[in-house]
Amino acid sequence: MARDEEKEAAGRAAAKLVRDGDVVGLGTGSTAYFAVVALGERVKAGLKMVGIPTSIKTGDLAREVGIRLITLDEHPEIDITIDGADEVDPKLNLIKGGGGALTREKVIATASRKMVVVADSSKVVAALGKFPLPVEVIAFARTVVENRIVSLGGAPKVRKKADGSFYLTDNGNQILDCSFGRIEDPAALARVLSDTPGIVEHGLFIGLAKLALVGKGDAVEELRA
Ligand code: 5RP
Repeated sequence: MARDEEKEAAGRAAAKLVRDGDVVGLGTGSTAYFAVVALGERVKAGLKMVGIPTSIKTGDLAREVGIRLITLDEHPEIDITIDGADEVDPKLNLIKGGGGALTREKVIATASRKMVVVADSSKVVAALGKFPLPVEVIAFARTVVENRIVSLGGAPKVRKKADGSFYLTDNGNQILDCSFGRIEDPAALARVLSDTPGIVEHGLFIGLAKLALVGKGDAVEELRA
């Protein structure tokens, strides 16, 4: 089964977990897309929910499909968040941020009672690190942060758009995609990166997800932390 079909199956399965009255964190990316569309269908069928998007793009999609949005200031506690991932390890530690929304995604995941990851089967790995780790930096600090990442064994590459200009996040910052290879201790690396001035956020999500719904062939597998 093609990857898109696995993504759709996972997204739709996650959308079924939302209950009447829930405040829902809406993830970003091509898998979360299917969850948002499925939630829009459920809203049209009578589901009462409100959403808090993890990106401007997801906010636009949610409005298009009829989901009412609120802000994190209005509701700083979220019942359930559904979001994608670039890599998922056996403890459900994640690499996220391929779509550049890692900072808002982490804020929303951390404010959620439950984070459900949706992914196709290619995202499940034995150890994190094959996918370059996205790190959001303020432009002022880019070179010092790059040097720090090299000293930690990573190879940073600033993310650019097709026209050669810097990719900017919804927060107006740059992204370093950092190739580390196999990350032996993701929690330790996460702590070091979090302690580095100039880094706004990094894409290691440690201990945040308790459930992953992974499209596999024509089934959806449940992985639990
Ligand atoms: C965006 C993300 C995405 O969830 C992640 O990149 C996975 O995306 P996709 O479902 O398109 O493979 O972290 O910042």
